[in-house]
Amino acid sequence: MEVNSKFLNVGVLLIATLLAAKIISALLFPRSHRKRRLPPVVKAWPLVGGLVRFLKGPIVMLRQEYPKLGSVFTLNLLNKNITFLIGPEVSAHFFKASESDLSQQEVYQFNVPTFGPGVVFDVDYSVRQEQFRFFTESLRVTKLKGYVDQMVNEAKEYFSKWGDSGEVDLKYELEHLIILTASRCLLGEEVRNKLFDDVSALFHDLDNGMLPISVIFPYLPIPAHRRRDQARKKLAEIFATIIAARKQTGKSENDMLQCFIDSKYKNGRPTTEAEVTGLLIAALFAGQHTSSITSTWTGAYLLANNKYMSAVVDEQKKLMEKHGDKVDHDILSEMEVLYRCIKEALRLHPPLIMLLRSSHSDFSVTTKEGREYDIPKGHIVATSPAFANRLPHIFKDPDTYDPERFDAGREEDKAAGAFSYISFGGGRHGCLGEPFAYLQIKAIWSHLLRNFDMELISPFPETDWNAMVVGVKGKVMVRYKRKGIPVN
Ligand code: HEM
Repeated sequence: MEVNSKFLNVGVLLIATLLAAKIISALLFPRSHRKRRLPPVVKAWPLVGGLVRFLKGPIVMLRQEYPKLGSVFTLNLLNKNITFLIGPEVSAHFFKASESDLSQQEVYQFNVPTFGPGVVFDVDYSVRQEQFRFFTESLRVTKLKGYVDQMVNEAKEYFSKWGDSGEVDLKYELEHLIILTASRCLLGEEVRNKLFDDVSALFHDLDNGMLPISVIFPYLPIPAHRRRDQARKKLAEIFATIIAARKQTGKSENDMLQCFIDSKYKNGRPTTEAEVTGLLIAALFAGQHTSSITSTWTGAYLLANNKYMSAVVDEQKKLMEKHGDKVDHDILSEMEVLYRCIKEALRLHPPLIMLLRSSHSDFSVTTKEGREYDIPKGHIVATSPAFANRLPHIFKDPDTYDPERFDAGREEDKAAGAFSYISFGGGRHGCLGEPFAYLQIKAIWSHLLRNFDMELISPFPETDWNAMVVGVKGKVMVRYKRKGIPVN
C-alpha cells in the first residue's frame, strides 16, 4: 500500500515537473524561437527534381508519397515549397483561413490575362469579395428558378434533334448542350440567339490560351496567348455593345449578365462594362467544363451500373406520376437519387484536382495520428480533391461507384466533418455555383432518362489527366433509342 502511494507520489511529481517545464519553455521560447517541426520533404533530384515529379502528374506523386510521408509533406519546386495537406484532419485551415493568412491572389494570378483586368484575381481582396457577392446574388434561388426553365427548354430543344435511334459521342453532345445552356443563363439571349457561333469561337480561343505553361508564364509571347488576348478584346467589344443596348432600351432579362449590370459596389459605384465582361468570362471558366465533365461521368457510371440506372429511372417514373412531365426547380430538387449519383461521379472525378493557396503566416496542423507540423509562411499550400475524395479511412471501398454512401446513416461525405468531400472546395472559398451545376446536370439527365434508352458501346472511359480541368479521355460512344416513360 505504502509502496503504491510512493509510486503515485513520484508519478504525480514527474508529470507536474514535465508540465511546468513545458509551460516555462513555451513562455521563455516563443514558437518562432523553438525548433520548428517542418513537414517531411519529398525525395527528388536537386534543383529540378521536384518540378519533374510534379509535371509527371501531381496525383501520381501523391499516390507514391502519401503512404510513405503521411498527410502533410513538402515538395521543393524550383525556388518554391509546396506543402500538401491531404485529408479533412489537416485541411481545415486551408479552407477556413482568412485571405491575409492564406491567399488565392498569387497562386491564381495566371487567370488574369483570361478574365481581364479589374476583376477577381486582378483586384484587392476587398473588391474581390464584393465581386463574389455579385456572383452570390446572381445565383440566388429566385434567380435559379428562372435559369432552370431555360435549362429545361435547352435540353428539350437539343435532344429533339436526335433521331428515334442512333449512336452519339455523349461527351461531345453534353459539352455542346452545356455551352448552349450556359450561354442562355449566363451570357443572355442576345448571345444565345444571335451571336452564339462567334462567341463560342472566341471562348474556344480563350480556353486554348490556358495551358499548363500559362500557369508559370501567363504572358509568354506564344501564338496561343496572342489568340487568347485577341479573343478577350473582341469579347469585351461584343459585350460592351450588348450592355449599352440593354441600358439604352431599359430592357431587363433574367440572366447573370443582367445581374452583373445591375450590381453595385458598397460605395454605390455600378460595375463597368469591362468588369461585367470579366466576371462573365470567370463564371464560364468556373462552370462550363466542370459541369460538362461531371455530366459525362455521371452518364458513364449510370450506363455501366444497372442497379443505379434502374434506381434513377424509377425515381423519374415516380416524379412523373406525381407531377406529370413538368420539370422545374422544385421538381429537380426532389431528384435525390439522381443527386447522389451525380455527387458520387464527382467524388471519383473532381475536375479541379488541385486547390492552391499562398501562405502569409506560419501555422500548425495535427495529423490524425497526432503528429504536429509547423508550416512556415512563404510556402504554397495545396490540397487535392482528386486524392482526398478517395481516402479509405473516409470512404469505404473508395474506388467503387457507390452513390448509397451518401444515404442517411452512412453519410460518408460528412464522416470527418465539413471537409471530407471536397469536389466543390469548401469553407471560405467554397464553390458559389454548386446549386447551379446540380440543377443543370439534373435537368439534362432527367430529360435523357425520361426519353431515351441508352447503352454504352465504347469501353468505360479513362481520365484525361493532361487537361487543365481534368476530364474524360476520348469519346464516350452511346447507342440510344427514343422511348417515353409510361405514367400510370
Ligand atoms: C460540377 C461543377 C463545378 C465544380 C466541380 C466546381 C468546383 C469548384 C471548386 C473546387 C472551387 C474552389 C476553388 C478553390 O478553393 O480554390 C470552386 C469555386 C468557385 N466556383 Fe465552382 N465548380 C463547379 C461549377 C461552378 C459553376 C456552374 C459556377 C458559376 C456559374 C461556379 C462558380 C464558382 C466561383 C465563383 C468560385 C469561387 C468562390 C470563391 O473563391 O469564393 N462553379 N468551384
